[in-house]
Amino acid sequence: MSSPTVVFTVTVALLGVHVLHGLPYSYLQPRNHHGVKTEKFIEKYFTQTVDHFNFNSMGNGTFLQRYLITEEHWTRGYGPVFFYTGNEGDIWEFAANSGFITELAAQLGAVVVFAEHRYYGTSLPFGKDSFSVPQIGLLTVEQALADYAVMIRDLKQQLGAADCPVIVFGGSYGGMLSAYMRLKYPNMVAGALAASAPVLSTAGLGASGQFFRDVTADFESVASECRDAVRGAFHQLTELAQHQDYSRIQSEFSLCTPPSSAQDMQQLNGMLRNAFTLMAMLDYPYSTHFMGNMPANPVKVACETMLSGPDLLTSLRNTAGIVYNSSGLLRCFDLYSLYVECADPTGCGLGLNSLAWDYQACTEIDLCFESNNVTDMFPPMAFTATDRQLYCAKRWAVVPRADWLKTQFWGDALSTASNIIFSNGDLDPWANGGVRKTLSSSVIAVNISGGAHHLDLRGSNDADPESVISARKTEADLIALWVQKERTRLQRSL
Ligand SMILES: *[C@@H]1O[C@H](CO)[C@@H](O)[C@H](O)[C@H]1NC(C)=O
Ligand SMILES: *[C@@H]1O[C@H](CO)[C@@H](O)[C@H](O)[C@H]1NC(C)=O
Ligand SMILES: *[C@@H]1O[C@H](CO)[C@@H](O)[C@H](O)[C@H]1NC(C)=O
Ligand SMILES: *[C@@H]1O[C@H](CO)[C@@H](O)[C@H](O)[C@H]1NC(C)=O
Repeated sequence: MSSPTVVFTVTVALLGVHVLHGLPYSYLQPRNHHGVKTEKFIEKYFTQTVDHFNFNSMGNGTFLQRYLITEEHWTRGYGPVFFYTGNEGDIWEFAANSGFITELAAQLGAVVVFAEHRYYGTSLPFGKDSFSVPQIGLLTVEQALADYAVMIRDLKQQLGAADCPVIVFGGSYGGMLSAYMRLKYPNMVAGALAASAPVLSTAGLGASGQFFRDVTADFESVASECRDAVRGAFHQLTELAQHQDYSRIQSEFSLCTPPSSAQDMQQLNGMLRNAFTLMAMLDYPYSTHFMGNMPANPVKVACETMLSGPDLLTSLRNTAGIVYNSSGLLRCFDLYSLYVECADPTGCGLGLNSLAWDYQACTEIDLCFESNNVTDMFPPMAFTATDRQLYCAKRWAVVPRADWLKTQFWGDALSTASNIIFSNGDLDPWANGGVRKTLSSSVIAVNISGGAHHLDLRGSNDADPESVISARKTEADLIALWVQKERTRLQRSL
């Protein structure tokens, strides 16, 4: 298997200079793994079946799937297995930003596994050819879940953990996967913590304006003047664009090259909107290095920046700089390399992982979100089902199946499921795309007031609000209960 760097270079060469597609989790991510003590994890590879659902297409073909494991806290042969269902990125990134899982493992004597999702990081079934058609076709939610089920089964055997209960964890798309694991493989998984999992909006069960409305609400809650300033700045930018005053736009926004078309303006608006999206998602009370480098309370910092500049356009540029120029080293903004449009309008990162996420957004995961300048503060930017179809046909030769995800994973009829926690922070623009109300005695919604995107999965921090401390306590109690019940069940069946 080629190293990621080599694969990346090859892909760039194949696609030409400006055609990278992206996803949040690889966003401007520095290569080293900051802060959190990830060194306890040992990196390993699991020999995984390439195609779980067609015995002819790949025969018994396998690929190497990466996972991280720590037995540091494990009560060997007895303590539970905590299994993180990796999402769209390098698995080290999630391990480094999900400290709660190891903290809870220390309490409950658990062995912790972080499994990397196929087609991400180094878990590429076809090496550098993984992103070609038709090889990319084996990237589906179902294949990923089957990978995790098979891995859980075999690792339990290897570890001598046959009667150790398994709890799955995940954040965001990873949280969707952990909920789905409990739906599809309750034989292997006793319960799931699905943190900030937008299971409804991604299945087409939601309003297209919800996401950017909720991004806006975060800035508005700091100050309505902040929202007005952002809207005002976009208004001025739109006026300059209407007058095709491209050299002024270049200098106001420190662009490396002047824009020269409506397409370039769409790109600039997308890049700017994406900065607000990331700050809303990652509005943690302390500085972080997850999906980029963020100061503490970035939304507040953005609003201070928006309201303090000499004029609105300068303020908007500086606010975007919080995200794109966190190093302070950028001389100018290169429109097409800082941000790339793809089938996920909530923000596309850069690099190889982003190709895989784009494909998922073109197939099962529906992210048809729009901004409209009425329910949100952004320029009107539509992304309809038709836009998605056209893009996906052209980019990946696929037609999205709008109703598939909700058919396959129960849609909003989740009340007969069991042992799933859906946690959401009210600062997170993904929250209202998920389950906000408790659906039964064991399908539990947890609210984290003042919490951003899966804050609860992060390790404890002195700056944590009371709400997340209490959410983690609720989660820990439920998980301990599930572990206890499952242990009894497993022991009876042995
Ligand atoms: C795959 O199947 C073939 C028979 O078709 C067999 O010869 C081979 O040993 C199998 N490989 C593995 C890794 O099981
Ligand atoms: C990036 O930040 C540095 C330091 O604040 C600043 O000098 C530079 O102009 C910024 N670059 C852009 C493109 O705004
Ligand atoms: C947003 O709407 C206001 C009117 O409510 C309008 O003046 C402004 O130009 C619009 N902004 C954009 C970027 O379309
Ligand atoms: C969580 O907050 C949402 C939005 O404020 C509310 O609708 C929901 O009922 C709350 N859920 C719980 C379990 O408290």
